[in-house]
Amino acid sequence: MNIVVLAAGQGKRMHSNLPKVLHPLAGKALLAHVIGTARRLSPQTLCLVYGHGGDAVRTTLDAPDLAWALQEPQLGTGHAVQQALPHLNGAGTTLVLYGDVPLIETGTLEKLLHAAHDALAILTVELDDPGGYGRIVRNSTGQVVRIVEEKDSTAEERCICEINTGIMAMPTVCLGQWLARLSNSNAQKEYYLTDIVGMAVEEGLPIRTANPKHEWEVLGVNSKVQLAELERIVQRSTAERLMEQGVRLADPARLDVRGELVCGRDVFIDVNCVFEGRVVLDEAVEVGPNCVLKNARIGAATRLAAFTHIEDAVVGPDGMIGPFARLRPGTELAEDVHIGNFVEIKKSRIAAHSKANHLAYIGDAIIGSRVNVGAGTITCNYDGVNKFQTIIEDDAFIGSDSQLVAPVTVGRGATLGAGTTLTRNAPPDTLTVSRARQVSISGWKRPVKQVRRKE
Ligand code: UD1
Ligand code: CA
Repeated sequence: MNIVVLAAGQGKRMHSNLPKVLHPLAGKALLAHVIGTARRLSPQTLCLVYGHGGDAVRTTLDAPDLAWALQEPQLGTGHAVQQALPHLNGAGTTLVLYGDVPLIETGTLEKLLHAAHDALAILTVELDDPGGYGRIVRNSTGQVVRIVEEKDSTAEERCICEINTGIMAMPTVCLGQWLARLSNSNAQKEYYLTDIVGMAVEEGLPIRTANPKHEWEVLGVNSKVQLAELERIVQRSTAERLMEQGVRLADPARLDVRGELVCGRDVFIDVNCVFEGRVVLDEAVEVGPNCVLKNARIGAATRLAAFTHIEDAVVGPDGMIGPFARLRPGTELAEDVHIGNFVEIKKSRIAAHSKANHLAYIGDAIIGSRVNVGAGTITCNYDGVNKFQTIIEDDAFIGSDSQLVAPVTVGRGATLGAGTTLTRNAPPDTLTVSRARQVSISGWKRPVKQVRRKE
């Protein structure tokens, strides 16, 4: 079986410099959705027809199992399939998909392929408003006789509600013969793939139609309005799948998954959260409102309070993160770690039961267990050229507003007095303070403004 994906069209109505099929839907290019679905059918050949200016498409999505056929100029859907022919295996069936119809499901395509082994099979739907689509013309006995494009149709044909979704399958040998006979004598001066239907009828090959399970499977993207409509459909179905798996969502309409979200039992997600890449939430994790998580794993029963931002990080179980916490790439928190508001952590490991509850920057650090990092603590990890490491051992206490000028180590059980600028290692089990001694000057008077009298 061969699959040909048509993706050479211009996409003028997107008004964008990005090729239409590279626009993201649920975090993934439109064409990548179609390629993913096609792969699940295990075709022998998966050929993508791409167009002028589409080098970006090829470089972005290329993979060893893909064949690419350049169509330049774009002279219609029939001409597009012609470009793919040299790549196709002559035996068996060929399935034609559109790169801008991303939600088509494998179940529907399997049905269509099944119908196509000795026939031309067309995926059709009945629409209340069929405007713009090619119409399926049937004879008095209900047999399909041809497809007529709207621009070539009569007023009577325009009343037909059954439309061509564009997705079809047929024996590859027939396809090759039909494509060679296409002409462009029509309203758009294009080589229409749809004209093969009339040819099949002439040859007496059966024409079968199949319908998608859901109407949204065959929706195409021609504009950003349609792109947004499809985004909502995908998000809604992701939300439903999560809820069916036992996730509690405050509002299924206010969740965006732009990648893969894997959840354990009894996870709760509040409104307006965005998940990107691969995110794993273990059992009983609670995600507060307005959190953004990208490529992260959150351990069981951890609570992420509102406006927490996590990227390329691992959070252990029983933690409390946020509100307004930022965990940047390379952050690894063990169990029962508390990270509070306006704390930023980068490329650092923090062991169990440690806390940084307010206003801190922790970068390139290794922090032990039961450490308390006071408000306003900063690891000075960067001298403008190189990055250096800070090590804080178990049970240390870092007083508020301390600066740890890396490379530096705070020993086990050490205490830093508030306001310390640490430039050398702090010994274990010792108080280290670096600040001028406090003095009080008695008899000191505030300066008073001199008032000059007019003479
Ligand atoms: C086509 C069908 C129409 C169907 C409709 C469904 C034909 C002649 N008409 O019409 O019956 O109802 O789709 O949406 O087939 N493409 C190329 N190269 C080209 C032209 C198109 O690769 O030269 C690709 C486009 O990128 C797109 C697909 O083919 O993915 C359909 O092209 P489009 O221009 O949208 O077809 P329609 O005229 O809408
Ligand atoms: Ca179209």
